[in-house]
Amino acid sequence: MYMKAPPGTRGILIVDDSRDTLEVLERNLAGAGYPVVGATSAAEALERLERQPVDLVITDLKMPKVGGLEVVRYVRENLRDTEVMMITGYPSVEGAVVAVKTGAEEYLGKPFTSEELLAAVERALEKLQLRRLGRGTLEEVPVAPCGIMGTSTRMRKVLNAIGKAACTSATVLITGESGTGKELVARAIHYSGRRAAAPFVPVNCGGIPEGLVESALFGHMKGAFTGAAEARAGFFHAADGGSLFLDEVREMSPAMQVKLLRVLQDCEVWMVGSSRPRKVDARILAATNIDLASLVKAGAFREDLFYRLNVITIAVPPLRERGDDVLLLARHFAAACSNELGRPIPRFSDGVLRVFKDHSWPGNVRELENVVRRLVVMSEGDLIEVPDLPSVMRFSLARANGSHRTLAEVEASHICDVLAAVGGNKTKAAAILGIDRKTLREKLKSLGAPSCGMTRVG
Ligand SMILES: Nc1ncnc2c1ncn2[C@@H]1O[C@H](COP(=O)(O)OP(=O)(O)OP(=O)(O)O)[C@@H](O)[C@H]1O
Ligand SMILES: [Mg+2]
Repeated sequence: MYMKAPPGTRGILIVDDSRDTLEVLERNLAGAGYPVVGATSAAEALERLERQPVDLVITDLKMPKVGGLEVVRYVRENLRDTEVMMITGYPSVEGAVVAVKTGAEEYLGKPFTSEELLAAVERALEKLQLRRLGRGTLEEVPVAPCGIMGTSTRMRKVLNAIGKAACTSATVLITGESGTGKELVARAIHYSGRRAAAPFVPVNCGGIPEGLVESALFGHMKGAFTGAAEARAGFFHAADGGSLFLDEVREMSPAMQVKLLRVLQDCEVWMVGSSRPRKVDARILAATNIDLASLVKAGAFREDLFYRLNVITIAVPPLRERGDDVLLLARHFAAACSNELGRPIPRFSDGVLRVFKDHSWPGNVRELENVVRRLVVMSEGDLIEVPDLPSVMRFSLARANGSHRTLAEVEASHICDVLAAVGGNKTKAAAILGIDRKTLREKLKSLGAPSCGMTRVG
């Protein structure tokens, strides 16, 4: 069944001259948890709207005196923060096209089931939510330490874990796909803990040539090896009192894994060429984008080191599992980039927001940041639309819009799109579709209005 309406829903206004229909709709929607008000004429509806803002207006098309199209037009022209949906007892493709052209987001032909009604309402409210996110009219998003953005359940857990980890000096293993923000998490732990005044030292374990890793980490004495003209401290010393971030820790050779394990056990570092260890107090934060436990199983990573590193684990979720966070982040990066360029912040169209939500983001937050920056730099107006997106992302839109549709559904929706594009002119539509008017008429007849999907993109 349907979930209760989300908290903060301002309600739905139903406009229908038939009291019976009003009652049925009210019962269905109230049963699903939506606050509902009714009006039996367009005039009453406008009067109510002036007194009480709602999230969604559902209006009948044919009503005496003033019809539903006028209600749609009024909402579109005056109420930016309200969606509108049309219902009608006389469904026709032309009616649907006109409703959409006037600004109705959804169109439902009678008779419809309560499931169809609730699904359409959910879609309309989701669009409203997307628009609000895109405009940035939601409440200000709290920004966590080090600018970590996110309010999804998964990210709240991460922020919670950061808070806990920051209160201790325990070793933390941060896992997550590439670009999810592992380093950002490590910085947040460091800078929100009591070590914040001491250095945070990031080391990419995969980026140092094998022969130099030991001296880079632990330092070396003068003359320890050819070319060691001076004694040099290592990253462990640099991070003394602070935190050492061992990025891509799985890249360490088996020999280095043994040495690292010893340092973690003894809190002592042997500089290369030294006969005495030195105490260091560097907190270890390690990161990996490959599951270390499975590497341990495969014999590619030491089990004892794994347990030493894995005292606290923070799993940073992939972006595709963070719900609306993707939109918050998109807005955040758009604002940051526009500020850098000294330009006004562009808006994203509903279609673009939909693509952002449906894209699988294999490169995670880094990919999103790059995409948004490129869009902002290239944008010429104040609105970023679907054609501005990289083609690989537009492909994900096509998928999201239904790769599992039947041929007949694809044909129906294409016919509707073309008709809408030419304002319902069948001669023009037939020419574009490459069929004659008669064939188009027959197809429209067999198609019926409700299947004329009202989802517009861009
Ligand atoms: N929640 C977030 N809020 C704001 N910015 C973020 C967030 N997560 C990541 N970023 C930004 O995304 C980019 C990638 O983050 P980061 O370098 O921390 O990822 P990573 O997991 O360490 O990646 P890799 O596995 O490739 O090393 C950075 O510019 C970072 O500032
Ligand atoms: Mg990283």
